[in-house]
Parts: sequence; C-alpha cells; structure tokens
Amino acid sequence: MNTAMTDKPIVYDPSDSATMADPFPIYARLREEDPVHWSPSLKSWIISRYTDVRDLLLSDHLSVRRLMQFYSSLPPQDAALLSDIVKYLDLWLAFRDPPDHTRVRRILRHAFTPKAVDAMRPGIEEIVHHLLDQLEERQADRIDLIREFALLVPAYVIMDMLEVPREMLAEFKSWSDDMAVFIGGARNADDKYHRAARGCQKMSSYFREIINERSANPRPGFLMDLINARDEGDQLTEDELVATCILILFAGHETTTNLIGNASLLLLRHPDQLAALRADPALIDGAIEEVLRHDGPTNALVRVVAQDHEIEGRKLREGERVFVMINSANRDPRIFEDPDRFDIRRNPNRHLTFGQGIHVCLGARLAREEGRVAVLELIKRFPDLALDDEPPEWLDAMVPRGTRRLPVRLRG
Ligand code: HEM
Repeated sequence: MNTAMTDKPIVYDPSDSATMADPFPIYARLREEDPVHWSPSLKSWIISRYTDVRDLLLSDHLSVRRLMQFYSSLPPQDAALLSDIVKYLDLWLAFRDPPDHTRVRRILRHAFTPKAVDAMRPGIEEIVHHLLDQLEERQADRIDLIREFALLVPAYVIMDMLEVPREMLAEFKSWSDDMAVFIGGARNADDKYHRAARGCQKMSSYFREIINERSANPRPGFLMDLINARDEGDQLTEDELVATCILILFAGHETTTNLIGNASLLLLRHPDQLAALRADPALIDGAIEEVLRHDGPTNALVRVVAQDHEIEGRKLREGERVFVMINSANRDPRIFEDPDRFDIRRNPNRHLTFGQGIHVCLGARLAREEGRVAVLELIKRFPDLALDDEPPEWLDAMVPRGTRRLPVRLRG
C-alpha cells in the first residue's frame, strides 16, 4: 500500500478530465482512506475495496430496482412519455430482483449455453476478417479504432444473433442511441425523453415483428432458442422476449466495444506485453483477463440500498444509491500482487468485471470469444499498429469505462 495519506478531503469527480483519463490514483485513496465513501455531489455511496464490493454483490442488502425509484419521482407529463420505455426496462433481468429475476434468469439459461456461443464462433471470425479486410484496403493510415473496428465487431455479432440484417446498422444505432440518452442518463439533452420514447417505440416494434416472424417460421439459431427457452414449462411472454432482445443489445454492445478498445490501448501502451503476445498467441486468454482486470469495461455498478445495514462502520440506509466500484476492486493490493502492473501472464486473476452473484454476466463467454478473436487478428494483420499522437478521448461516464475515440496508425 504505497498511497501517501493526505489531509485533503477526497473529492471524487468522475467527469474531471484527469480522473477520466486515469481514475486509479483516486481509487487508491478511496480504498485506503475512506472505503465506504459518501459523495455529496453524487449523493451516493462509493464502495471501493474488493471484499466489500464482492460481498455486497453477493448479499441481498442491495437492490437493482433503481429505475422505478427514478420513474416515480418524475412529473406526470414526463412519466407519461416514458411509460413505454419503462415498461420494457422494468422487464429487464438487469433491473429485476428475486423472485422475478430468478424466474427469467432460469429460463434464459436455456438459451445462453456454451454450445450456443460455440456455434457463433465462425460468425465472429468472419465478421472480424471482413472488417480487417476493409481496413487493409483503405488508403488512410490514421483511423479511429473505435468507430472503424471496436464498435462494429459486437454490433454485427449481436445483430446476427438477433437476426437483424447488417444493412440496418445505421438505423439500429440511431434507435439505440436515442434509448441510451435515457438509460445512460445523458445530462444535457433537452429532448432526451422524447428521443428515448421514439427509439424504444421503433426498437420494440421491430423486435416484436422478427419474434413473430421467427415463431411462425422456425429456424435454428439463438433467436429461436430464446423463443423456445423453457424452465419447468414456464417461458418468456412476448413482452419479456422483446425486452430481452433490447437488453442483449445494450448489455453486449458497448461493453464489448470497450473491451476491444481498452485491450488495444493497453497492449499498445505496453510494448513488452504486446511483443510477448505476438510471440505466443496462446497468451491471448490471459491477456483478455488482464485487460478486464486492469482497465476493464465495467467501471462501476449501480444499486439502491434495500435494507439498512453497516459496512466498514458506515450506516447505509434504505433507498440510498450505491456505486459499487468494480475497477477499483480490481486494483486492490489486498487481493492482487502489484495491482497497477499490466501483466498478461497474471495468475490467479479473480477480477470482478463480469459482476458477482445472481446478476453475473450471461454473455461473458461470448464477450471473451469476441475479444480474443478481434484482438489477436488485429495485431496479426497490422504488425506495426501504433497509437497516434492525438490522445484517446475517454467516455464521460460513471458506469462504462472506455474510449469514445482511439486514434491509431495502422502501419506505424
Ligand atoms: C466485455 C463485455 C461485457 C462485460 C464487461 C459485461 C459485464 C456485465 C456485468 C458486470 C453484469 C452484471 C450487472 C449487474 O450486476 O448489475 C452483466 C450482466 C449481463 N450481461 Fe454482460 N457484459 C459483457 C458482455 C455481454 C454480452 C456480449 C452479453 C450478451 C450478448 C451480455 C449480457 C448480459 C446480460 C443479459 C446481463 C444481465 C444478467 C442479470 O441481470 O441476471 N453481456 N454484464
């Protein structure tokens, strides 16, 4: 524990540009000096130590039903506008507590099987090769790796999974961007509720149509597995199916983009590790795990206190908001040796990036597969890939962690 204690009060401001570029020094202070920190500006608890984060996610002291709390505080005209989007989000597994969560999760287990993900592998490889072919053919050497690659791999994988034609990418992206202004809590968009309602209406009617079409004309694939998924005779309702398709799109897209983006950035910033991976591609599994730990796509998870309880001597009261800081937990020196070192051979590596407990990520196997194929093929195709002089632009967000823009030179 090499953090120097200071008398200055801790001010954690996630949108401060220095903190966005490197939040880890402030996380170290939080872990050492105030591991259960009350942030007056965020009006939330900030939990930063590994064991507290893990134990809280495993306990039933916290709830994920933060959305309804927010919704019930809205003025009636906004609530009316948002009633449709809230109806779907309320059916999301990610926003349900037991017993509703238990029921839907049991059913979904039958669609998210290792076999289903293995069947997607050839599709992932085809998508990655196709995108890299396009990059190779281009004259331009300087590109934004996020826009031209990291964003497209998971977008096409999920569109294929849900049987959305790839030509609809731009349309789909605009609907999901519209919905994201609500889900992601954009600060400055005046028309954000109108946009969110419109995006949700378009997206839900599109999914309802393809679900009906696939039910009438069965064809093997993930969507069919989802429609057919049953647990002891119980299955998802049509609304739950629509909501789950939207959830998969949101849960599996930006997260995986950030995995590919953060992996590229970390490897390019650590040439010794990149050289080791190039020399021995079998190190890719460890490399992906280390990216997930060292600067992974899950900065934080959001919860609401479900019942009064105490941690590290602080009292958390029902209804208060909690940020469970995954990326801080993943650098806790009590658990990880030399935690700030990026080491693709690290073992053991019990990071918390896919969550813990009942909500643990259903798409982890798929995300790892996408990350492995995308990163390995990218560094193979472009042996001189290098960071551009223009620095990366980080997302101004508390929950996801990644770059909005990652300028690179393809040929060094
Ligand atoms: C690197 C990429 C990914 C990361 C870091 C990630 C991370 C997470 C985390 C931390 C959770 C738990 C959220 C919570 O406890 O509040 C979660 C849940 C979930 N993830 Fe992922 N995820 C990734 C990719 C995917 C993909 C590709 C899919 C599907 C195609 C997916 C589907 C889901 C679903 C459905 C849940 C909700 C599970 C539940 O609430 O029971 N994720 N993910």
